[in-house]
Amino acid sequence: MRAVEVQAGGNTLVIDPYDILETGNILVFPQSFFEDVPQDREFLLAVRPSEGQYHKNIAYRPHIDKLSGFGKMDPAAAERLRSVLRDYSRRVIEFTGKLLPRYQPQWRVDFASLRPLEETGRELPLKKRNDLLHTDAFPTRPTNGGLILRFFTNVHPSKSRVWVTSDPFAVAASRYAHAAGLNAFARGSSYHFRQALAYVRLAPAGRSRYDEFMLAFHDYLKRNQEYQQSCPKYRFEFAPGTSWMVFTDIVPHSVESGQSAVEQTFIISAASLGNPKNAPVAILEKLAGKNLRLAERKSPETAFHG
Ligand SMILES: [Fe+2]
Repeated sequence: MRAVEVQAGGNTLVIDPYDILETGNILVFPQSFFEDVPQDREFLLAVRPSEGQYHKNIAYRPHIDKLSGFGKMDPAAAERLRSVLRDYSRRVIEFTGKLLPRYQPQWRVDFASLRPLEETGRELPLKKRNDLLHTDAFPTRPTNGGLILRFFTNVHPSKSRVWVTSDPFAVAASRYAHAAGLNAFARGSSYHFRQALAYVRLAPAGRSRYDEFMLAFHDYLKRNQEYQQSCPKYRFEFAPGTSWMVFTDIVPHSVESGQSAVEQTFIISAASLGNPKNAPVAILEKLAGKNLRLAERKSPETAFHG
């Protein structure tokens, strides 16, 4: 597990960014994404969610240019925030497209977000806790085997954002996937229950067995004290202004401390990986001996390719 620095101008001739990411490492970009727009950085730093707000992050949806989770923010400030996140999102999409052109034709541009609160000492329900190691899965946005690639930027001028990570998904899955109920998900015994929930609108339709398992595995890892305490750990300090990119479903991660980060998510097709066998869905299908994906179909959420 390592973090590989990519300097401005790129040292992509000597590194293979695809291989670094797909094998469970982190790409780090020391140059600030806000150097040219310091006023945007100042604005993001001052954003605070309103009291008792349900959502832990403020989200921006690039494909419909919409901001959500900002609570009772003054309309002018909300409009400014939408504009700043729109600009960040566009720049990250362009940057990532140049760095990883092989992913772009099939990727789905997902949400951007602002994480305004200090991570240390937050009191959250277990499933939402960021300080416990986990692999990402989205309750409301199934990927059907697609991977979650995230580009983060530490906006804070003096505090590092500190992550702890562990060995990649293949290691965690080989040890814990069966204990987390993989075979039941693969057989569909949990799946049909969830489809019934979808029918009464408690869960989104179109969720594959893979998505169901990844949600369960996210919770399983957070609950598993033996895993939390005994797994190998790697600590990374992302300095103020730094950006980093990582497959957050391949790399188990937790946030130890840090305040004010922005982020843009991409859903990457497993088929566009250099080695598709590194995709969590391929690892799980091999372990289960069964297909865990739904037949592909188009929806408005999957139609935006940025
Ligand atoms: Fe996460």
